[in-house]
Amino acid sequence: MMALKFKKLRRWIFIAAPFFLLLLWICRINWTFHLWTPKYQTFSSPKKCFNKHLVPPAQPATLVAVNGMKTLLVSAYLEHRSKVKKVRIIAIKPRKEKASYLCHLRCEKKLKITRADYKTHSDHFRFHYGTADIMCPLPSGCPTPSHVAVTSAHVNPEGTLDQDFLEVQNLKTEFQSFPFNFTVCFSTMFDYTNVLQLVQSLEMLQLLGVNRVVIYKTNCSLETQNVLDYYTHKGLVEEIPWSLSKYLNVSRGWLPNHGPGELHYFGQIPALNDCLYRYMYKTKYLALHDVDELILPQSVDSWLELLPLLEKKFGANKRYRFRSHVFPNDVLLPPPIFPNTLLQHSWGNVSGVNILSHLYREPLPSTAWIDFKIIVNPREVFSLTVHGALKSLKPFEWVTSDMARMYHTR
Ligand SMILES: *[C@@H]1O[C@H](CO)[C@@H](O)[C@H](O)[C@H]1NC(C)=O
Ligand SMILES: *[C@@H]1O[C@H](CO)[C@@H](O)[C@H](O)[C@H]1NC(C)=O
Ligand SMILES: *[C@@H]1O[C@H](CO)[C@@H](O)[C@H](O)[C@H]1NC(C)=O
Ligand SMILES: *[C@@H]1O[C@H](CO)[C@@H](O)[C@H](O)[C@H]1NC(C)=O
Repeated sequence: MMALKFKKLRRWIFIAAPFFLLLLWICRINWTFHLWTPKYQTFSSPKKCFNKHLVPPAQPATLVAVNGMKTLLVSAYLEHRSKVKKVRIIAIKPRKEKASYLCHLRCEKKLKITRADYKTHSDHFRFHYGTADIMCPLPSGCPTPSHVAVTSAHVNPEGTLDQDFLEVQNLKTEFQSFPFNFTVCFSTMFDYTNVLQLVQSLEMLQLLGVNRVVIYKTNCSLETQNVLDYYTHKGLVEEIPWSLSKYLNVSRGWLPNHGPGELHYFGQIPALNDCLYRYMYKTKYLALHDVDELILPQSVDSWLELLPLLEKKFGANKRYRFRSHVFPNDVLLPPPIFPNTLLQHSWGNVSGVNILSHLYREPLPSTAWIDFKIIVNPREVFSLTVHGALKSLKPFEWVTSDMARMYHTR
């Protein structure tokens, strides 16, 4: 009896073992995949074994609160373009909060303190909080500090250090060759469910020559998350977790009376500024527009062909502004005939706006001069706002509508 059971068991093990080994192997792949990509390292737990697309965890925008103050630090970057190099910290602070910051810079094994100055961005849409740049001059003998912490000179005059550090990024510059030709920054995705429009936009952007789309994500539907995971795995999307709600109440509106809260539209402006610096030396051009907007060339097929035309006409490194043309998503025109009607049929079940069925273009409104988005050389720009660059080295140019237009399906 025992022998029979043992035989059965042995046979069972014999059959099951390959499956078990296969399982182990799949998990190991996933595990090592994470180990081999230290740039994605975070404190989140490793992904589950059977995660569909083996998505590397995104690098979060690290938020650090300055003790005793209402200032929040988003990220830190070495600023190479000022007369004396500085560390620029992108921050969020109550606009009226008086502050006197000390920077603690980690230089090799030593810690050095310098006194910072700061500037609040002029675009705040009258919210209580605004975006600020805290600038830390580099101490002598410390050209590339690896980390920085900030304390308040008022709250903590001794400058004792009880703060978390931010990693200083952009220690090296790059002006010649970039991993990406075009990067698009989508700021503050929240409550997002418009799957079809997202997929159509991401596919369209790739056709235009875009290699990277950076998405600052607060939250979205499960279906949307699957799409984001797919494109992250593909190498197109970098998803940056973006939630300020632990620290302050963000508004859903772009003016205080459009949505209660202390900071403009989910913190869109600090997110855009982070994107500018994060990709400054990684991308040749940076485009700033939302997920429901597409800049479409009118005489050529892609941005790769469009940019040389713009540079020839207006000069290089300008801020190219594209006027917004609205395609209301409540007006349906007969959709174009696609050769593959099956494809069209299968879109019928995907939730969201099909941008290809909204072909009616409204006439340009009187506000056309503020409704635009831009493509820039990020190394020429210092700060960004919703519609463009607040501060940059070169002036802007309006791109004429025979060259390109921005299609806004809203
Ligand atoms: C960038 O554009 C050039 C052509 O201008 C192309 O050869 C290259 O492959 C593109 N790079 C990427 C990452 O797509
Ligand atoms: C998404 O985030 C916003 C802001 O934190 C919150 O108000 C909303 O309830 C969240 N939605 C979901 C579905 O979790
Ligand atoms: C956000 O607002 C609510 C209601 O006004 C308040 O109770 C809460 O403390 C606020 N949260 C933060 C983080 O300030
Ligand atoms: C769309 O959904 C309907 C009802 O659930 C289903 O019968 C149909 O097969 C689906 N079509 C496609 C292309 O998936």
